[in-house]
Amino acid sequence: MSFQGKTLVLSGGTKGIGKAIIYEFAKAGANIAFTYNSNAEEAENIAKELSSTYGVKAKHYPLNILEPDSYKELFTQVDTDFGDVHFFISNAIISGRPVVGGFAPFMRLKPKGLNNIYTATVLAFVVGAQEAAKRMEKIGGGAIVAMSSTGNLVHTENYAGHGSSKAALEIMVKYAALELAEKNIRVNALSGGPIETDALRAFPNFDQLKQDVISRTPLGRMGQPDDLAGIAKFLCSEDAKWITGQTIIADGGSSFT
Ligand SMILES: NC(=O)c1ccc[n+]([C@@H]2O[C@H](COP(=O)([O-])OP(=O)(O)OC[C@H]3O[C@@H](n4cnc5c(N)ncnc54)[C@H](OP(=O)(O)O)[C@@H]3O)[C@@H](O)[C@H]2O)c1
Repeated sequence: MSFQGKTLVLSGGTKGIGKAIIYEFAKAGANIAFTYNSNAEEAENIAKELSSTYGVKAKHYPLNILEPDSYKELFTQVDTDFGDVHFFISNAIISGRPVVGGFAPFMRLKPKGLNNIYTATVLAFVVGAQEAAKRMEKIGGGAIVAMSSTGNLVHTENYAGHGSSKAALEIMVKYAALELAEKNIRVNALSGGPIETDALRAFPNFDQLKQDVISRTPLGRMGQPDDLAGIAKFLCSEDAKWITGQTIIADGGSSFT
């Protein structure tokens, strides 16, 4: 199993889970093409650090997952800068103003906010995975991972928009996996329980939420970004060569309590 010299394309690498994943892949020798949305300066610092620390090629690109077709331009740039694409991880998630009306109790949900979450979660995955698959087909295969969450299994306050979009995403992953299998492209979802990142810290009741999560998590703590990074790498590795169309849940046991 080798990541040396192979290329990962990942959306949303500036912080949280995406950042942990790109460091994990770079440590294993993979070249990294990652995207940012608002944090250009942080993205530049990360790209420099990945190159200087791990000796890999690392580049950052702007992307807005509310405009899924912008993936086409991103992959064209990646073609020029990196050549082949071996792995694609759809990780970025929207927060703040775009989720107003989507991140809310059921009776306050609004079509616009819900639409934004669905676009950023499902439609962006579709276009990104299509572009990645076109490249992977040319080199005889590859692996795609969609980041999901247990908000589609466990009721989480204000999370109907995200939870229902992640449920749709996991089904989209199954369709993609089945139809891309003949090209030797594997597609899986990685579903995390609550992980301590800015996305979760932005919840209005974060401190209370954190205590609740810890108390109902058998492993007795809050998940951290690196709890998912190694699993994302495993799903892209040769060790996972017989896994496709699955959702792998990593939640410290919390979805069964
Ligand atoms: N946190 C959790 O509890 C948890 C649990 C399970 C699964 N997940 C999933 O894991 C993934 C990452 O979550 P996270 O908690 O690490 O998120 P995060 O810390 O909020 O990071 C979000 C990333 O998405 C980028 N982004 C924001 N708006 C964007 C837009 N409009 N277009 C393109 N990129 C955009 C951000 O870039 P900038 O910083 O440049 O704006 C950032 O890199 C998501 O798919 C999430 O659903 C999260």
